[in-house]
Formats: sequence, C-alpha cells, structure tokens
Amino acid sequence: MVVYQVYPRSFADSGGDGLGDLAGITARLDHLAWLGVDALWLSPINPSPMADGGYDVADYRGVDPSFGTVEDVERLACEATDRGIDLLLDIVPCHTSIEHPWFRERPELYVWSPVDGPPNNWRANFGGPAWTEDRHGRGWYLHSFYPEQPDLDWRNPEVARELAAVLSFWRGKGVAGFRLDALQQLLKDPELRDDPPATRPRLLAGETDYETLEHVHSSDQPGVEEPLRALRRGAGADAFLVGEIGLPCDRHGPYLGPLDASFCFELFFSAWEAEALAAGIRAGLATGKPAWVLSNHDFPRLADRIGRENVAAAALLLLALPGPVFLFQGDELALGNGPGRPAGAAEAPPYDRAGRDPFRHPMPWTEKPPHHGFTTGAPWLDVVVPPSGSAERQREDPGSPAAHTRELIALRRGLVGPVEELSARDGVLSFRRGAVGVAVNTAERPREQPWTGSVLHRTSSRSDDLLNPGSGTFVQVV
Ligand code: NOJ
Repeated sequence: MVVYQVYPRSFADSGGDGLGDLAGITARLDHLAWLGVDALWLSPINPSPMADGGYDVADYRGVDPSFGTVEDVERLACEATDRGIDLLLDIVPCHTSIEHPWFRERPELYVWSPVDGPPNNWRANFGGPAWTEDRHGRGWYLHSFYPEQPDLDWRNPEVARELAAVLSFWRGKGVAGFRLDALQQLLKDPELRDDPPATRPRLLAGETDYETLEHVHSSDQPGVEEPLRALRRGAGADAFLVGEIGLPCDRHGPYLGPLDASFCFELFFSAWEAEALAAGIRAGLATGKPAWVLSNHDFPRLADRIGRENVAAAALLLLALPGPVFLFQGDELALGNGPGRPAGAAEAPPYDRAGRDPFRHPMPWTEKPPHHGFTTGAPWLDVVVPPSGSAERQREDPGSPAAHTRELIALRRGLVGPVEELSARDGVLSFRRGAVGVAVNTAERPREQPWTGSVLHRTSSRSDDLLNPGSGTFVQVV
C-alpha cells in the first residue's frame, strides 16, 4: 500500500484565496492516479483557528470553511474511490483546540491541575510549561503541545465515546481510514508525578526544554490499548488505522493491537548511511506492523535533509519495503524547503511558531509563473519549483524524480515476501524481496552491485555493474 500525504492548505487552490482546498485536491486526483498510489491521507481539514496548522481542532465533524464542506469530503472520497484511491483522514485524539465548544461547555473532558498552579514540572512538546492558567478562571489545564491545544482526559470514558463516534461519522462519509496523531500523549500518569531529568538519547533531539526531561510520567502510560480499542470500534474492523507514536519502535508494542501500522521514525531520522538505514529498517520490522516514511509536514524536506542527489535512491529504498509506505506531497518532485514566508513579507511572523513553514510550501503544478498552477490568487506561502521542474514538466520527462517514483510504485507490486538478507557493507545497503534484489549506494564512490541478474530499475544511467553514489537498483535475481 502506498499512501500519499496531502497537506491541504498547500496542495491546490480552487477558489483563488491562496489557500489549498478540497475541491482543489479533487481536481488534481489525476496526478495521484498517474503516480499509482493506493490511498491519500489529508492532514486535518476540520475547523481550526490554525494555531498548529489544523492540529488544533475546533469541531471534529466539520470542515474548515477555507477547505470546503463535508459534502466536498464526500465528493473527494467518491472521486478518489473511482480511481482506486482510498481517502484517509487525520484524527487528533490527544487534544482539541482551545476554541472547541467542549473546552467551554464540558471542562470535565480535559485534564486540569488539582492545585492552583502547575502540579508538576511537565514541559510541552514545543517547549515551555505544559500547564497554562485558564482565561475563564477555572484553574490550570494541561497541554502537551501549544497552550491553544488543551489535552483531552482519556481516563474519562466520555472522551473515548465521543472520539469513536467521530470516526464512525467520517466512515459514513466515505472515508476508508485514519492517521491517528500523537498517540504517545493519550494517557498520562494519574498521580501527575514529576518527570525525571533526561538520560536516554532521544530519537530526535530538538532544541527546547522538552528535551531536558525523561517523559516517563507525562506520556506513554500503561493501559493505552483500551482507548485505542474504542477508536477501532468507532472506525470499524475494515478501516485502515495508522498511528503516529512519537516513541522508538521498541515501545510501540502496547499500542499495536488495535492498529494496522505505526510509523517507524528510526528510518525517518536515520542518517543517509547504509548501517544506520539498516538499523532503522530492523527497528521497524521488529514491530511487525511498520509504516515506512521519510518525510512529512513536520520536518525539513527530504531533499534538504539527505541531499537532493540521494532523493531518487531514497524513494527506491522506501518503495522496496513491505507494508504501508507514506510519501509526502512534493517528494515525488524532489521538492526542497522554501523560505517559509510569503513573497514581500520578510517581516511577517511565521504561521507556525515551531518553525515548520519552510516544509509546507505549495505544490508547483505548472511551469507558469508566478504561482505555478497552485492558485490564481496570492499563495499563503510562495510556490517553490524544484530543479527538475513542476509536476507538469516532470510527468513529461521519463528521467524525472516523478517518473522514477511512478515506475517504482508500479514495480513495487511485483515485490513479494519479507525483507531477507538485509545487509550494509561498504556503504551499500541491500536486501532481497522474493526474487528481487534491492541495493542502494550511500558511499561517496561507485560500488559493486551486490546482485546478479537483470536490472528492473536503476536510478542512475550507468550501464555497467557499478552503482553510482546516491543511486539504487532493483535486480531480478537469477
Ligand atoms: C504531530 C503532527 O504531525 C504535528 O504537526 C502536530 O503539531 C502535533 N502532532 C500535535 O498535534
């Protein structure tokens, strides 16, 4: 299964307001069908004050007017299904927006301090204290992320009932599954004990005071299977559920029963180096339910993280792995980071306070400046065109990153069986899937191709048995 992640604000604008929308996505479905993906995941589309790019939801059953309406979701689901593409939505179960009516009307659904002030030393994921004083004088509430995102209390069974009903509501609108946000934050220590100082190296070391603590009490608590079972019941047995669990893979076990897959962040954050990539793959395989991903809306774009020269080989590696694979919009174009500000707005404050605007620039659909088919208005962030050109140009060019991605997605259907003979030697990562040998050269010099047989795909144009640096190959092994 190949899932294409759409960041709706940046995919395609049908209305001319400079913001992507659902009708825009529907109008561009042919690109996804051309690539050959199986599903499309939308980052949140619910009404939101956008303090966290939509991950601050003010109504789980609605659609933000900037994106369209519930009917637009139904239309998108229907048109996608007609092309053999399932629609997946992003559900944010850990917290709501501070503007959600529940926060005003049903405070018992949230986590409150039992004292007049922060009851412990917990820090928020984006830095700063995890407790903020309510502006209506009701005490101090917990927020694992921004203060605009109060945490729901999953120890209150009403929360599970409400969220499960939300999933079944969207199933009724033609949605086939869900990506579940930040599951490590669902349950917290009921005694609200202090987190001890950090000792273990973290998967991804950020630069905030969040990193100074070991989050043994503020996240990842026993009993998480119960809430997840409730979400599974709401979604139905046949829904696809992938969890974002911000923990190393060896701690995903308690979450996995009700889920189909969880993202393997070890591979995501791995250096572009054969040994490290192999370790990332092993970590994911060990869960038994890995979802593979190398890029999303939260981190610098792949081309900037691992180097543009390695992007094609990274796509080959990702698309060779068994289980669900997630591609972030623009990865197929080898799109890089943008400046993070709209044109002429050098002084404008960032939209995202955690600095993620540069990873969220709109899609370049055509060669036509100034906005490359994204909008007829003024885009919320500039449209960045990668060196290999817009989607339109890449689709015409058989050597482009988009054409490679398309061919790899097609070849992937012929890869069967588990990962075997995984090895990292001399900078070359290799493994076998059935009769197909996969190899990627992460070294700085050409390396011997480890597989003998006929080449099904190679990302560089060499015709001998050597693999160029930053290239990869699929070989029909004899
Ligand atoms: C993970 C999402 O991917 C990210 O964008 C968001 O800020 C946090 N969860 C909080 O919802």
